[in-house]
Amino acid sequence: MKKTVVTDRIIYVEPDSMANFSSCAGIIIRSKGKVFIDMNLGPEETPKLLMQENPDAAVITHFHLDHSVWTRYVADYSKALVLIPEKEEPCLTSLDFVIAHTAGPFGMAEKWKDFVVNHLFYRPLTVYDCYSEKTSFHHLVPEMVVLDTPGHSPSHTSFYFPDEKILFSGDVGLDRFGPWYGWADCNIKTIVESLLRLDGLQVELILTSHGGMIKNKIRNAFLKSIRHILEREEKIIRKLDKGMTKQDIIAQGIFYPHTQKIREPMRSFVTMWDTAMFNHHEALIKEGGLVKFFPEIKGMI
Ligand SMILES: [Fe+2]
Repeated sequence: MKKTVVTDRIIYVEPDSMANFSSCAGIIIRSKGKVFIDMNLGPEETPKLLMQENPDAAVITHFHLDHSVWTRYVADYSKALVLIPEKEEPCLTSLDFVIAHTAGPFGMAEKWKDFVVNHLFYRPLTVYDCYSEKTSFHHLVPEMVVLDTPGHSPSHTSFYFPDEKILFSGDVGLDRFGPWYGWADCNIKTIVESLLRLDGLQVELILTSHGGMIKNKIRNAFLKSIRHILEREEKIIRKLDKGMTKQDIIAQGIFYPHTQKIREPMRSFVTMWDTAMFNHHEALIKEGGLVKFFPEIKGMI
């Protein structure tokens, strides 16, 4: 793992590898109490860090497994309270529910279940509390603001430190690949609303889950992310106008390029995610397209 001391209160922690969608970067906050957010570094590093630091709370930004499976180690290696976004509780506490609401609609339930249980080691959470934007973290981190930033997942949350003008943005899609909306419960319109909300903050440093730290051109980061979505939409419209089929468009990639080179079962998974992303675009195009709902973005980007 790589630890970067950002301020005297915030440490940014990145895993050695993010291969196979199994880990992400997180933060340690040392304030009134000690809090871990998204500390999914893998089955060796996370327990080690939990023992070393013994946090008071273990928070996740959203239920996606590359952010959440580490919560299964928390009770064994620390006394921390696990805190999960309230609208995503069923995904974290029921294997059947999470499979039915992710790969299920794509006919991939069995393959995905095998991967989730035997490779990512999903176990239903039993001891936890739920949080929302209304939850007070005053006793642990009085300076932290909880921000509802849904779209990437139903209750995705970001964390803002106004004194330091630092944002932990989770998975809102500020890395070079842009926003991801590969499950049926993702929502492009709410992703854009969330990005516009974050764009309105005073931010000097962004700590992301998969794209490192963003220190320069902060404003650009949010708008670039929206531009990714708009460009995908425009590309899909062009291809549909040319008479291409949904299958051919997905085969050429929506989020994941060069899917032919990826090995199974990952190839089936990325095709499933690209299918979901196509479906979201297709539905939005039928409603009139992204700019119809956010006319202001045309001038902004
Ligand atoms: Fe995610």
